[in-house]
Amino acid sequence: MISSFFGKEVTVGIDIGSSSIKAVEIEPTPNGWTVVNAAVAPTPSEAIKDGCIINIVDVSQEIRNMLRDADIKAGGAVCAISGSQVIVRQVQFPKMPEAMLRKSIKYEAGKFISSSMEDSIVEFEILGEAEDPNQMNVMLVAAPRDMIDSRVATLESAGLEPLVIDIESFALIRALVEFNATDEYLNSTIALIDIGASHTNVDIVSKGDFALTRNIPIAGDSFTNSIRSLLGGGFDDAERAKREMTAQYPIDELNAVGGDNKCWRVVQPLLDELIREIRRSIHFYQSQFPEGSADAGVDKIVVTGGTARIPGLGTYISNKLGINVEVAHVFEQTAIKTEAVNKDFIDEHGSVLAVSTGLALKELIPENTSKAVA
Ligand SMILES: Nc1ncnc2c1ncn2[C@@H]1O[C@H](COP(=O)(O)OP(=O)(O)OP(=O)(O)O)[C@@H](O)[C@H]1O
Ligand SMILES: [Mg+2]
Repeated sequence: MISSFFGKEVTVGIDIGSSSIKAVEIEPTPNGWTVVNAAVAPTPSEAIKDGCIINIVDVSQEIRNMLRDADIKAGGAVCAISGSQVIVRQVQFPKMPEAMLRKSIKYEAGKFISSSMEDSIVEFEILGEAEDPNQMNVMLVAAPRDMIDSRVATLESAGLEPLVIDIESFALIRALVEFNATDEYLNSTIALIDIGASHTNVDIVSKGDFALTRNIPIAGDSFTNSIRSLLGGGFDDAERAKREMTAQYPIDELNAVGGDNKCWRVVQPLLDELIREIRRSIHFYQSQFPEGSADAGVDKIVVTGGTARIPGLGTYISNKLGINVEVAHVFEQTAIKTEAVNKDFIDEHGSVLAVSTGLALKELIPENTSKAVA
């Protein structure tokens, strides 16, 4: 590979979303971690279904094109999976050596996973002793084999060596919590909420440790589809109308504000439903603590993903949940430098590059601060 002639193998983090593909290349420099390249391109339509890449030819061609246009000469790539079919759970097993757990993991995992073990890939990491000294805490990850195989095939077909298939939640935590410029998130409990096109991912992170993840099938596409039903045109027309919409709060003041807010009126009930699901996730997290426990509070919500760009969204969610909300700009929150990349591009895409940034960092940091499936 050409990049290895220069003594280093360039790797790129690629977040293959159902709406857009994001690529980030990061290098360690004497000044610290630096983004040397980043790119965003639309995902070919209908190419991803339920988290599986079903059109490998077009997606790999798009990746080739975007890397060429952005002058990213990577040999290896890290990408991730996510969605309702990906199971990420902290569970307890009787204490046993890792090799023994590896032999029985499929059997053990079957107790926690409803889908067929035959079609799943299961991985785990032993986290340490549980409260009961006969038990140990284990991070269990399982995903449909197709979801992983389709990513491996896509990267290979794009001329890249698939180095790791990570989990989107872990990539987000790596970028926004582990690489945060301050210790704030390491000392508090935060909910990372990534609102993409096909789904919303909720991750609760307590003092830097992953606590739970949940997937909610309400996101940008749901909003676009309801606007499409309202306006009667095509998907692209509805997307354009959505991008001119503002999330206003409270709804009673809509008439006083004036202007054209018919799109917001049809989106608002869906956003409210999404917020109810987020509240449920937070309550589930809190139910694990004794009543009144100081550890149970969620101090802040950090929102990422393309849908986080809706003006007023952060304020709206914050008012509904009574929790501080920050719309994350991944490079403002982390100590990662961006001078090498066009500033307007970085400013525009700061909230959508969080997953790809976490993926780019995966191979640059010493094992084993994070986990991966393959
Ligand atoms: N300025 C904007 N205003 C409103 N919505 C926007 C804006 N920019 C992007 N979006 C929406 O963000 C979504 C895409 O976000 P993102 O790129 O994070 O999704 P994805 O990672 O491709 O999807 P997923 O993770 O769900 O597979 C789309 O629904 C798009 O309409
Ligand atoms: Mg996404």
